[in-house]
Amino acid sequence: MKSVLVLDFGSQYTRLIVRRLRDKGYYAVLLPHSVSEDVAREYDPGAVILSGGPNSVYEEGAPQMPEWVLSLSVPVLGICYGLQLIAHTLGGQVQKAPHREYGRARLHVDNDRLFEGLPREFDVWMSHGDRVERLPEGFFSIAHTSDAPYAAIRNTEGTMYGVQFHPEVAHTQYGSEILADFVSNVAGLQPTWKVDNLVDVLIDEVRQQVGDGKVILGLSGGVDSSTLALLLHKAIGDRVIPIFVDTGLMRKNESAEVRSAFENLGIHIHMVDASEEFFRALKGVTDPEEKRKRIGHTFIDVFTREAERLKKEHGDIEFLAQGTLYPDVIESSVHGGPSRTIKTHHNVGGLPEKLGFKLVEPFRYLFKDEVREIARALGLPEYLVKRHPFPGPGLAVRILGEVTPERVKLLQEADAIFIEELKRWNLYDSVWQAFAVLLPVQSVGVMGDERTYENAVVLRAVVSTDGMTADWARLPYDFLDHVSRRIVGEVRGINRVAYDITSKPPGTIEWE
Ligand code: XMP
Repeated sequence: MKSVLVLDFGSQYTRLIVRRLRDKGYYAVLLPHSVSEDVAREYDPGAVILSGGPNSVYEEGAPQMPEWVLSLSVPVLGICYGLQLIAHTLGGQVQKAPHREYGRARLHVDNDRLFEGLPREFDVWMSHGDRVERLPEGFFSIAHTSDAPYAAIRNTEGTMYGVQFHPEVAHTQYGSEILADFVSNVAGLQPTWKVDNLVDVLIDEVRQQVGDGKVILGLSGGVDSSTLALLLHKAIGDRVIPIFVDTGLMRKNESAEVRSAFENLGIHIHMVDASEEFFRALKGVTDPEEKRKRIGHTFIDVFTREAERLKKEHGDIEFLAQGTLYPDVIESSVHGGPSRTIKTHHNVGGLPEKLGFKLVEPFRYLFKDEVREIARALGLPEYLVKRHPFPGPGLAVRILGEVTPERVKLLQEADAIFIEELKRWNLYDSVWQAFAVLLPVQSVGVMGDERTYENAVVLRAVVSTDGMTADWARLPYDFLDHVSRRIVGEVRGINRVAYDITSKPPGTIEWE
């Protein structure tokens, strides 16, 4: 299948270009701008897109357009820095703009196949301090804004295009259409890309990287690590060893459920019950940050020990797989070869450098909803695919005050009722996350003529698209009433239920 090569010049939006194209059914690949011609040609490119980037093309040391791009003889589209690169490389002039253009701008377009079927005017998103002052020979403008006469350009042959704005961001109207117009109308590619293709590509990449080596993987039961385990199993069979560390801080029945789900898929999981160790580490601790720290350290200790043990059992294990997603990747540009030695600052679990594993991160250019699609394509049960996010430190950050096995049990019971009822009332999928929180307070109640003095739980349910901001879910009163009655009636030790009506900000989703 012909690909669209997206060369990364360091813009924070680069990955979105790939995303938009894949959504439109085109096979887009992200590569560093420094990639060699040989590697680039392996992807059978049918078009090249040069991304935006933070540099000025005329500065010393600024990344330049690789020479091989022109010798591929395929259409090229430059976006922002990419447009300036085209102009600069082919003899035009780029300099600092009199007004920097950031944010929304009104674009006026000419009749060109890049804008096929689009209105003559719409809003686009700009983010640049330089602009093209003089076009190279053979180029002309096909769109302008009040500040940028060359907001979109092309050459006479129609083989090179450039846009000063960012078609890949959501604030640009018709942005995906413009990218798709370039790929279909200009480059003549067909939209034949499907998620199954992505699975095949990822499997190939894993096989290439790992060879006949062995891989361990920290399985949390969440959708990312579960999908990763499935993908690796498909790629290299039993040479992947998923490790599930039971911290004792999981939701009710969680470890048993994860184990049986994977056994049904024919994947054996190495289970480690480390709950006593975690409870010991948390004894007497009430400060939220201290809890997180101790859980992190204990996790590393347990994981390291298990990894060493497995190495003795299975021979050398060279790789560690992680379900890092694109939003987790701090660096905005693509680096290095396919395998790097692990870095503490960059991975979520903070597994230490001294472990010396090479990282396998097949999802590092994907977004969560793409991983969910892969999960479905690989046959992960739907309840695991749609499962709400769960924080690494688990119920410890939902038990305010000291975490003890008894308090975990109490919270698990209340939480399980809440979740079970959400599913029964068909509300589970409409919220981003829902859970119960155990407070460190007791309150007075009356049950069967008896005075009670027991614990209070808070129910939390939020709607969100990414967890960065959130609003409390407007769950029906009748539903809340039903859940509250069940919890107080069934969970001995809880006599009061409250519902959290704080959005994020100012609150956070979790209570600690
Ligand atoms: P907050 O509480 O910061 O949570 O609004 C935002 C999202 O992140 C999850 N979360 C965590 N996930 N480790 C994780 O893996 C953590 O330490 C952690 N803390 C919060 C939270 O559940 C919500 O989805």
